[in-house]
Amino acid sequence: MQDLNELRDSINSIKEEIVNGVKEVRNSKALYEFKKTFLDSKAGKINALMKEMKNIPNELKAEFGKNVNELKNWAGVKFDELDASMKEAEAKQRYEDEKIDITMPAVKCSCGKLHPVTLVKNQLIDIFASMGFDVYEGTEIENDYYNFTALNTPQDHPARDMQDTFYLSPQFLLRTQTSSGQIHVMENRKPPIKILSPGKVFRSDDDATHSPMFTQMEGLVVDKGITLRDLKGMLEVMVKRIFGEGTTTRLRPSYFPFTEPSVEVDVSCFECGGTGCRLCKGTGWIEVLGAGIVNKKVLENCNIDSNEYSGLAFGVGVERLAMLKYGINNIKLLYESDLRVLEQLDE
Ligand code: PHE
Repeated sequence: MQDLNELRDSINSIKEEIVNGVKEVRNSKALYEFKKTFLDSKAGKINALMKEMKNIPNELKAEFGKNVNELKNWAGVKFDELDASMKEAEAKQRYEDEKIDITMPAVKCSCGKLHPVTLVKNQLIDIFASMGFDVYEGTEIENDYYNFTALNTPQDHPARDMQDTFYLSPQFLLRTQTSSGQIHVMENRKPPIKILSPGKVFRSDDDATHSPMFTQMEGLVVDKGITLRDLKGMLEVMVKRIFGEGTTTRLRPSYFPFTEPSVEVDVSCFECGGTGCRLCKGTGWIEVLGAGIVNKKVLENCNIDSNEYSGLAFGVGVERLAMLKYGINNIKLLYESDLRVLEQLDE
């Protein structure tokens, strides 16, 4: 390059090239590449123009430099403006594409939770653990001795008819009551004893309120001077915690071979407060469990001196408590695993 005219031609053609070229550029990335062909310090066309300075006569150098710098500034501003507007448009587009519609109904996420029978069982364990009870879990298959004979219910005892038993063999059976756990514990521990024994029990019984398999929770206390007052006191604590502070208990005479005296325990109706309603069949009371003072013969069967020690025992049906607590009238609803039912039986 020799003179300023030639320079002006180059400047004009570069300007034209830029003005036309940017029309084809679609995004900021392409713009960046396009810009480099003019303004890159090594390969840029404008920078190449500056290198021509050495061929220009001295008296023209100042004017030459000024013109190239003007071009450089003009191009810089043009590219910057374009870059800014493209980036703004691109950001807008991105926000649009990634927009989240917060008015969309959320995908329902269902969460597993404990079965109502497990909840009531755990609640019972908590209540009695707070009174110092240990948990003993027996076995579901028992022999006749632990389920009946040791519990003062020998062969041919009429009380065996109270429970229709599933026999596995003449000797083995599916336990009909968690009371069998009483014997195992008394055989293996010395008083004072305070245990709770939850578990499945089995009886050939099937209607709206009975199921061939259900859950019982046995309680057993053996110590010096245990009386019915201790039993009533503990059960009062239990029903108040489960059914509310206003509930109370009443003991009615009953019969079990392994307790003497035996009682049936009622709770005051938590639905009507005792005035009488459908739940309590107009009586104001609801039967919840069987209990009593451990029969001396049972203590003796386990080599516990019945003159020194006495005991109390109770056996509560966990499903029965759950049905009362959640207002269910058919025990099958607890076993069918129908989520529409179970989801309503929450704490
Ligand atoms: N085992 C008795 C039943 O299943 C309940 C019970 C337990 C009664 C302990 C008294 C003492 O019916």
